[in-house]
Amino acid sequence: MAEVFGQRLLSGKNAIVTGGGSGINLAIARRYAENGARIGLIGRTKEKLDAAVDELRRAGGEASAHPADVRDYDALAAAIKSAREAHGEIDLVVCGAAGNFPAPALGMSANGFKAVVDIDLLGTFNTCRAVYEHLRRPGASIINISATQAFTPMPLQAHVCAAKAGVDMLTKCLAIEWGPQGVRVNSIAPGAVDETEGMRRLAPTPEIRKQLTRAIPAGRFATKDEIADLALFLSSDAAKFITGAVVVCDGGQSLAGFGVSMMAAMQPRT
Ligand code: COA
Repeated sequence: MAEVFGQRLLSGKNAIVTGGGSGINLAIARRYAENGARIGLIGRTKEKLDAAVDELRRAGGEASAHPADVRDYDALAAAIKSAREAHGEIDLVVCGAAGNFPAPALGMSANGFKAVVDIDLLGTFNTCRAVYEHLRRPGASIINISATQAFTPMPLQAHVCAAKAGVDMLTKCLAIEWGPQGVRVNSIAPGAVDETEGMRRLAPTPEIRKQLTRAIPAGRFATKDEIADLALFLSSDAAKFITGAVVVCDGGQSLAGFGVSMMAAMQPRT
């Protein structure tokens, strides 16, 4: 989906991607760059951002690094300003910075719960709030990276479920408030995605991975590129009347409940 009849979908657009040094967010940055967007990557770790920028440049993209923690509003606002100075007014925003560790509610301190809510929910608010004045309006698109935890309760994920539910409601509120200014705000809710830090933490052994896969109607985890393709669509003109949507990309995983458990139980055990 890199090009449609030779036309790059995001030519002339400027993007910022938080958490852009790795994982799903870097895959989205790559897809945006392939499609002609200039990319400002924001993240906590300068070395990771620099390596990602090198990779995008080697592939012919235009990219720059702007280190900041999304929990620190002033540092984040300065990073966003420097991305705008590097590339120009911002058309596309991906709020992807996230934190996760598997733990039961009784196994996490108030500070552990807060760390995830601060990165995922407050960090998304901070990014949207700080970027607004730098957006090219009308026509800007914001994508918040949510997760199926937002609407499917999961054990060991109370902090993430609460934070991502907040992210999706924030998406909808901002879509209402900023729609008249021509700013679209949508969420992408991936399920299990291969080769990500999140899944390394949630499915650390082949046995756990196999069990989780049984509950996914599509029979596998998503690839990062599949999430990037969805982000490309949502940020392009092809989606110009879509705002306030939570778009699920999970191979049917969140259709859970008894039906999926039955499906998993009925599958031959290999
Ligand atoms: N179980 C229980 N509590 C945990 C924990 C675990 N596995 N890992 C961290 N915590 C707690 C810490 O104990 C601390 O609480 P305390 O001060 O009461 O002891 C709190 O979380 C903050 O930990 P800290 O390491 O200082 O926070 P951080 O800001 O450096 O890290 C995290 C944030 C905790 C989310 C960390 O997992 C992280 O950096 N993740 C980023 C990568 C990632 O998760 N990617 C996947 C995204 S889906």
